[in-house]
Amino acid sequence: MPDGGEKSLIWGSRFSQGPHPLFFAYGRSIGWDQRLAPEDIRGSIAHVHALRAAGVLSADIAQELEGALGRIAEDLAHGEVLPILPSDEDVHGAIERLLGPVGAYLHAGRSRNDQVALDFHLFCKEAATGLEQATARMQGALLGLAEAQGLKLWWGMTHLQTAQPVLVAHHLLAYFWMFERDRRRFAWARQQADCSPLGAGALAGAGLPLDPRATAQELGLGGIYENSMDAVSDRDFALDLGHAAATAALHLSRLGEEIVLYASPGYGLIGLPDDFASGSSMMPQKKNPDGAELMRGRAGRVIGRHLGLMTTVKGLPLAYVRDLQEDKEALFEIVDTTLDSLVLAAAMVQRLEVRGVEIPAGDLSLATDLADYLVRCGVPFRKAHHIVGEAVQAAIQAGGNFTGLATARWQELSPHFTADALHSLLDPRQALERRSVPMGTAPAQVSRQLREARQTLEGAL
Ligand code: ARG
Repeated sequence: MPDGGEKSLIWGSRFSQGPHPLFFAYGRSIGWDQRLAPEDIRGSIAHVHALRAAGVLSADIAQELEGALGRIAEDLAHGEVLPILPSDEDVHGAIERLLGPVGAYLHAGRSRNDQVALDFHLFCKEAATGLEQATARMQGALLGLAEAQGLKLWWGMTHLQTAQPVLVAHHLLAYFWMFERDRRRFAWARQQADCSPLGAGALAGAGLPLDPRATAQELGLGGIYENSMDAVSDRDFALDLGHAAATAALHLSRLGEEIVLYASPGYGLIGLPDDFASGSSMMPQKKNPDGAELMRGRAGRVIGRHLGLMTTVKGLPLAYVRDLQEDKEALFEIVDTTLDSLVLAAAMVQRLEVRGVEIPAGDLSLATDLADYLVRCGVPFRKAHHIVGEAVQAAIQAGGNFTGLATARWQELSPHFTADALHSLLDPRQALERRSVPMGTAPAQVSRQLREARQTLEGAL
């Protein structure tokens, strides 16, 4: 129970006794919501101005309140922790207590419902901005790596089976564009948080003649809610940020998986820098891709927390209900984890050593090009597919490469397969050139894509 019993709580006087210690501990949120102290103080200073403008506070009281709030903010900015007492339930009550006797004037026309919603909007807006920037840095790392790959080739895969040759840069750029969409999702989430709920009061609107638009403007927020009940009771702005983060974490996890996979000797396509790898406590030779594994694994936390918060908000009646207090721990973990993963990924990605592969002439990954050629000669695609399927079977028997087939065998398969045509068709570099279509992996298209990516990133930074 808080020291001083029920009277020490900002809402305590209506009760004959203080809260049961179990209930108090269960509902106490200061352990994590103290993180919102800077936002809470910013909101309170704006509220003091609103109360002063409404003629509710004298100039002296307003000044005293602002001075006291500013001093706490300064202490926090200098790294001091909020001096919490066991009787403090949440950050709002703690700050009011720290103001001393003048704190008694602060809460007029405001409820913790619009207060905490405001704090959380301010937090989400800033967190989204930080995530946007971290995503742009991650994109920069990917782009730098892609630019350095020149004409290196990889086997592009579908179903994790060899499919068609691609430029390594093309493969890496696929991630650049995923993160570009993530960055835009973060920007969207920032805009969703850019709205002030302060002035909604507990649910019906403040009972004092405040000007919430002026308060929003002072706080650098783009506008206010239309409806006070909506303002205090929805957390969709936080869910927008959670969704953006969950999708970015999911992309990081896919990239992590590819790094793990391609760094394994079975693929040998990626070399990890020593300082981003771990050893084994038992096997002295090991070099493990733990960073990439954790990047993959932590996505689970972000996605789980996001789903958890959606589930918390689901089914809640209007307006404020205490379930909403669960929003903060969830979102803090989402934001921190995603930010950590983006920062790690950017640092690790730019140091990856990427090895191209020598795709030999006649490689089976050129089969689609053989079929496309027959189509250009007028053969219906399904028939062409069938013919090349037979060629694949024969090539496998002849050692696993199309060059194992004699000209006579090709001619049996189709008279269009002349020696000249085959010479060009079985060259992997020419297969690349044939994909000089929008989105394609031809070197000219990839150069264009690299330029486009560079321009996009410059616009973002
Ligand atoms: N700690 C609460 C939260 O985070 C603050 C708002 C409390 N409001 C109330 N009516 N009990 O949601």
